[in-house]
Amino acid sequence: KRGAGKIEVAEPWNKLPLLAPSLPTNPALYAGPFPFYRRPSELGCFSLDAQRQYHGDARALRYYCPPPTNGQSPNFDLRDGYPDRYRPRDEEVQERLDHLLCWVLEHRGRLEGGPGWLAGAIVTWRGHLTKLLTTPYERQEGWQLAASRFQGTLYLSEVETPAARDQRLTRPPLLQELMYMGYKFEQYMCADKPGGSTDPSGEVNTNVAFCSVLRSRLGNHPLLFSGEVDCIDPQAPTAQPPSCYVELKTSKEMHSPGQRKSFYRRKLLKWWAQSFLPGVPNVVAGFRNPEGFVCSLKTFRTMEMFEYVRNDRDGWNPSVCMNFCAAFLSFAQNTVVQDDPRLVYLFSWEPGSPVTVSEHRDAPHAFLPTWYVEAMTQ
Ligand code: A3P
Ligand code: MG
Ligand code: MG
Repeated sequence: KRGAGKIEVAEPWNKLPLLAPSLPTNPALYAGPFPFYRRPSELGCFSLDAQRQYHGDARALRYYCPPPTNGQSPNFDLRDGYPDRYRPRDEEVQERLDHLLCWVLEHRGRLEGGPGWLAGAIVTWRGHLTKLLTTPYERQEGWQLAASRFQGTLYLSEVETPAARDQRLTRPPLLQELMYMGYKFEQYMCADKPGGSTDPSGEVNTNVAFCSVLRSRLGNHPLLFSGEVDCIDPQAPTAQPPSCYVELKTSKEMHSPGQRKSFYRRKLLKWWAQSFLPGVPNVVAGFRNPEGFVCSLKTFRTMEMFEYVRNDRDGWNPSVCMNFCAAFLSFAQNTVVQDDPRLVYLFSWEPGSPVTVSEHRDAPHAFLPTWYVEAMTQ
């Protein structure tokens, strides 16, 4: 018996490790009916200028200006201006939620849904939610999301994984040029003023961004999120945002059924997730040839993208994406119980594994800035 120092009584329950909660990501676990998703409505917007400075207005919004459809195909040289007229954003700067928090701070007193609405909401970037939606199908890139609760609200902010940082710092020159080409396509398709014309002679400055701030709800999770919007179509059938917004994308020209299948399975999933969340109805794709010229355009309707994989056993399913996201948000809500802006729960995921969680205090993971916490506490 214990104390006698002679006989050890087996107490196996004392040897069991405390089971750390985790969340599986297998698609089969999230099949089922599509969950409730409130039609996203725009609460406001903001812009970031060429110096990455915040402005609480739509000054960076551009206007969809496709080439005339007079039987001619476009001929956009996406490599033109690289690298001389490229002003890339400094990716070493970790902006976290700062610009979105700036908007929330300015508008907190007059949010629709009443003064208590924000306290029950989740605040994050659209891009973080996109990663959650595609997680059950992702086989390459893991993610980390930091979460803090403050005045009831749950804030989610992505943390760059060590692997992602390594990849960014060793990005091959060809990949850097490919990134430029995506932005260059926007320049060929957008004007600075409604009814204006495009100007591909200028610089491509990726500090500039127009962001829409949206309200939605997934299941019982009210959401306030912001996403970058490429342009507005002044001729859209519905002039009300987000229905008038257009997402622009580039992709490789496809020449075989195998290439198409892979495009529907991988790329369309990402395009769908990104545009479905904010309610952007159309994605305009420019297909580039091996020389980097876009010679054809195709509009994909967000709500019809699933049709390309509906009968594909290895395709993706919107219900799985949304059910997993809802499950993750519940997992996060139940994990982050204490209301404390300095307390951070770090959710980590690698393909092939469940989502795990660790607890942290203050630097380097705390992400709610002092200026925000203090202003909100006034
Ligand atoms: P394409 O996606 O057309 O290649 P977005 O399409 O979201 O508006 O982003 C504009 C461009 O930014 C992309 O154009 C791509 O060039 C670059 N980009 C966006 N996300 C990226 C990522 N995760 N990795 C590399 N480049 C990215
Ligand atoms: Mg964009
Ligand atoms: Mg785009």
